[in-house]
Amino acid sequence: MNNNPIGIFDSGVGGLSVARSIREKLPNEDMVYIADSLNAPYGNKSDEFISMRSSYIIDHLIGMKAKAVVVACNTATVSAIDMLRNNYSIPIIGVEPGIKPAVAASKSGTIGVLATEQTVNSVSFQNLVNRFSDEAHIETQSCPGLVELMETHKFEGHEIRYMLERYVMPLLEKGADTIVMGCTHFAFLTKILREIIGSELKIINTYQAVAIETSRQLNVNNLLTSNTKDGDTEFLSSNVHEKTALLFEKLWGEPVIVSGFA
Ligand code: DGL
Repeated sequence: MNNNPIGIFDSGVGGLSVARSIREKLPNEDMVYIADSLNAPYGNKSDEFISMRSSYIIDHLIGMKAKAVVVACNTATVSAIDMLRNNYSIPIIGVEPGIKPAVAASKSGTIGVLATEQTVNSVSFQNLVNRFSDEAHIETQSCPGLVELMETHKFEGHEIRYMLERYVMPLLEKGADTIVMGCTHFAFLTKILREIIGSELKIINTYQAVAIETSRQLNVNNLLTSNTKDGDTEFLSSNVHEKTALLFEKLWGEPVIVSGFA
């Protein structure tokens, strides 16, 4: 089992930010990445729908011999992680907004979280906020539209910059000095956010923490690969069209082949 791939999935291409970090941390591991882009965004879907899709995708990943699965999506994590961990025996690693590191980094004591509607409104996110509410003031902002723009290749340029600015400004006005990227898609907007908010404020992403946790989970479960060559990465999407590979390539950083997933 050790030389089987790590399965990774997201509602779309956002989880590639996590996959890149895992690739860096675990260069010899094979990986399979599934983007459920046909159903993106998950941020306006129900827990039931997201749980159903997550199970369907994990079944497929296990069919491809995945030895562990990374849910590279904050929204799917808050909606489905407990159910998934109950239902599958392989390690399931999730992603949650980096409130803990943000609270530690903030000087003003106010942090802002950008996330999807589904994440912001979920019970598990509220529990996470409550855990830190004695230590910091936590402002949240749901961001409908951002994921849709990214999935349609508009992750640069005026339109997305304007939308991001509109979402982050209320957080800054409330005194936030640290902004949490609570959606894996938003990791790819870090540079634009930096241009909007300037160099003084902090931006927290969680992809490195997830890569470290993935490595730890493989280690404690004796699942680290024995391969010494560079690992392969296979990419699948539920919405393959003529521009899909281009979008993956831009975000992944090198040419890729994207196969269909139904
Ligand atoms: N990348 C997903 C996340 O981390 C995006 C969710 C969506 O599709 O709305 O939340």
